[in-house]
Amino acid sequence: MAYNILILNGPNLNMLGTREPEIYGAQTLDDLENYCRESAATLGMKCTCFQSNLEGDLVGKIQTAAAEFDGIIINAAAYTHTSVAIHDAFKTCPLPFIEVHLSNVYAREEFRHKSLISSLAKGVLCGFGQMGYSLALQAMKEILNSRED
Ligand code: DQA
Repeated sequence: MAYNILILNGPNLNMLGTREPEIYGAQTLDDLENYCRESAATLGMKCTCFQSNLEGDLVGKIQTAAAEFDGIIINAAAYTHTSVAIHDAFKTCPLPFIEVHLSNVYAREEFRHKSLISSLAKGVLCGFGQMGYSLALQAMKEILNSRED
């Protein structure tokens, strides 16, 4: 059965394309989501993409993901650096997850150097633009293939 992956994008990522293109590139959220679906299909996987500007929406998706999905790839955007609620949601989520950022957060302001979710993630990818999502899908497939169960 094909793995089903939930891809979560957080606040302001709906503005991709017009938002600081020198940092985030010219692709829109639609472009990014299409790229993710194509990358997943190439790997023989399925993915569902969801974006919200609201912390509670992301928490809700993480809480219910295990009923439908095998793993989560998340760009929590600014909530990465602030959200105890998203950290806590992942603490009780049984699924493996990978943290992704389009930009290299370590080459930017210091407040972006701290993530409240990295310690719970299988791994973190940042600075590779949209390719980071494709790399995360590849890594997720390997992680799921090597599960004991
Ligand atoms: C981001 C980096 C965050 O610091 C920022 O708040 C974002 C996007 C990225 O993809 O590079 O909104 O997660």
